[in-house]
Amino acid sequence: MSSDNNSSTVFTSKLGVLVATLGTAVGLGNIWKFPALTGQNGGAAFVIIYIIACFALGLPLMIAEITLGRMTGKDILSTFKELAPKSAWIIIAIFSLISGILVIAYYSDVVGWVFIYFGKSLFGGLTTTDPAIAKEIFDSVAFSAPSALLGQCITFATIAIVLMLGIHTGIERVSKIFLPILSVLLIGIAIHNLFLEKAVDGLLFLFKPDFSKVTPLVILEAVGLAFFKLSLAVGTLYTYGSYFPKNQNIPLVATRVMFADLAISLIAGIAIFPAVFTYNFEVTSGTSLLFVTIPAVFAQIPGGSLITTLFFLLTVFAALGASIALVEVSVATLIGRGYSRPKAVLTAVISIFALGIFATLSLTPILSDFQIFGLPIFSLYDFCSSNIMMPIGGFFTAIFVGYAMDKKSIVQEVTSQHTFFQNRFLLEGWFILIRYVVPALILIVLFNGLNLWSTIEAIFT
Ligand code: ALA
Repeated sequence: MSSDNNSSTVFTSKLGVLVATLGTAVGLGNIWKFPALTGQNGGAAFVIIYIIACFALGLPLMIAEITLGRMTGKDILSTFKELAPKSAWIIIAIFSLISGILVIAYYSDVVGWVFIYFGKSLFGGLTTTDPAIAKEIFDSVAFSAPSALLGQCITFATIAIVLMLGIHTGIERVSKIFLPILSVLLIGIAIHNLFLEKAVDGLLFLFKPDFSKVTPLVILEAVGLAFFKLSLAVGTLYTYGSYFPKNQNIPLVATRVMFADLAISLIAGIAIFPAVFTYNFEVTSGTSLLFVTIPAVFAQIPGGSLITTLFFLLTVFAALGASIALVEVSVATLIGRGYSRPKAVLTAVISIFALGIFATLSLTPILSDFQIFGLPIFSLYDFCSSNIMMPIGGFFTAIFVGYAMDKKSIVQEVTSQHTFFQNRFLLEGWFILIRYVVPALILIVLFNGLNLWSTIEAIFT
């Protein structure tokens, strides 16, 4: 893949670049994971830490990853081979590839649930406000092997088709259509839910912080969510960066994507928490939260099942946008090793699906007894990728850009064709964040969140 003006491999327009990059960020993370983790980690205080992590860690790293990708115009493995030949820095590429594969392996299970919910809502199978019945429906979709595997199968088949079509016809076009419609629908649901009986309780939960609930693990979860949300350290930003034309203002695109992504998460929160409190759902119910609340909101409204159907359809698209980007990292890497696109797509999809089946079955009676470190495989993939591997990948990326790379060449790429960072103050600010703030914060959060201090103490005492 080349980042010069080879029109078959480069995003076509400014809007195309922005929307496709936004498509990597926006997904189930906003609509499913953000509310689930906010509910489980005590609400507003978690949200504030998450927002700080987006600004202090997410944005600087996004700029760094896209810049490295565009510098070489190559897949992530070739990027590090070119920028740091025969060195250990290649580990960043390998880490990112593995993290991305782990994410999509379990994420595809959830995309599958959304597909099944879309089908159910289409045939009127979701009309209940009763928490017990809603939970039963969710369990029958997510925790039953035939249904969950069917959903995951549909997910991977769709990903394969879109990726076979290639970058332009696939990713860019799909993202341009569904993202604006999804945002408008979410805003509509949020406004509607502001008038629900216990809307104020939901809003207080989301926006009134109680810092007594913050623990080192809560901070790690919030940082992990920022990495997951912005698709950091999973290779997608390097890969998409390699498709960026040289006239694109990387910092501006990254800033817009971060703000838009944050806004969509907060709107999803406003759409969900008032309903959680009004219909007495369990705020800590995690993975099922989205799937029980949205149908409940529309269960008793005339035409409500149509809105529910549209909601799940658009969520499918959002989830696919992010999934496609994640799988494209492996596809681009295989193409960089000489595979044709169809062969690369099939190899990547089949291998990741094989890993994903374990995540899916781990939530069903078939594999639910099999746990590692007390976690089912689904949660293990999730915890290891978001809370361990991505922060470590981000740490080494910051060290690589801040210390190992030649500052002049980085600055030249970031400011390519007179963009935003002509402003010295902003450029130096970004560099300070990358050199000092990002590595230090990640180390502190990881050591405390994983309780590594006591492990080290135990070794030496
Ligand atoms: N960034 C993607 C999401 O949030 C993975 O869904």
